[in-house]
Amino acid sequence: MSPDLKILGLEGRVAIVTGAASGIGKAAAEIMAAAGARVTAVDVNADGVKATVAGMGGAGHVAEVVDLSDIAACDALVTRTAKREGRLDCLLNIAATLRRIDMEQVDEAEWDRLMNVNLRSQFFLCRAAGEAMKPRKWGRIVNCSSGAGLVGGFVGATAYAITKAGIMTMTKSFAKDLGPHGITVNTLSPGAIDTPMQRTGMTKETLENARSRIPLGRMGLAAECARGAVFLASDLASYVNGHILAVDGGFLMR
Ligand SMILES: NC(=O)c1ccc[n+]([C@@H]2O[C@H](COP(=O)([O-])OP(=O)(O)OC[C@H]3O[C@@H](n4cnc5c(N)ncnc54)[C@H](O)[C@@H]3O)[C@@H](O)[C@H]2O)c1
Repeated sequence: MSPDLKILGLEGRVAIVTGAASGIGKAAAEIMAAAGARVTAVDVNADGVKATVAGMGGAGHVAEVVDLSDIAACDALVTRTAKREGRLDCLLNIAATLRRIDMEQVDEAEWDRLMNVNLRSQFFLCRAAGEAMKPRKWGRIVNCSSGAGLVGGFVGATAYAITKAGIMTMTKSFAKDLGPHGITVNTLSPGAIDTPMQRTGMTKETLENARSRIPLGRMGLAAECARGAVFLASDLASYVNGHILAVDGGFLMR
């Protein structure tokens, strides 16, 4: 391990990272592993998550193929991981879905799909992970919201933005409930990060429009954003709780 990563204090920590087949979740799983954590990488994309784990090298990493929209599957994932590893230290709740469609076209099925994958899964994973972390009086939970949760959806992302606003207040509630048990709960809030999700349904013009409003003048890289999540999961963030960390190049300064 590079000496730079040692400072994170993640060596030997047991971590679940969701959304690990692609983008920010994949990068977060890779950095956690490089910092010495034992990573259970989770995604509904079987080939993708297996490739992530194969690329991480080293022992102790596991690929789990789970559809997180299923509450029972979320509970079972946490139970299985804690039983196999004998503990759970970190949960990085990064997975989400987005299909850009006009508000008029959001029917009941699409509404339920977004709520279940993006919001419901994070709630039930937080709750199960909190219970698994309590006995050791130490834990780090990092949820993943979006600037859209603060300022509203951008290009056909109305219902998506509602799920992301829910994650922000959910994080604060869990931070209050789990803080007394030595468990911090924070949220990463990515801006425009160059991943498959960011490019979904965006034209060249809308992407350029977003880019032109970022003070740093470019979209972020998945790894740059993932570093924010890893910081919140690390020893360095020991006194950070209930925080929303924007990693957005200054896009949504408030
Ligand atoms: N990329 C951006 O610009 C941006 C901006 C704001 C917020 N975010 C948030 O960052 C997080 C990561 O997004 P990304 O850009 O890396 O997207 P991505 O599409 O590259 O990765 C998302 C991953 O989640 C997985 N996933 C989707 N549904 C799932 C399910 N039901 N069960 C398990 N896994 C599932 C996908 O298979 C995929 O691997 C998300 O929470 C997203 O909302 C991203």
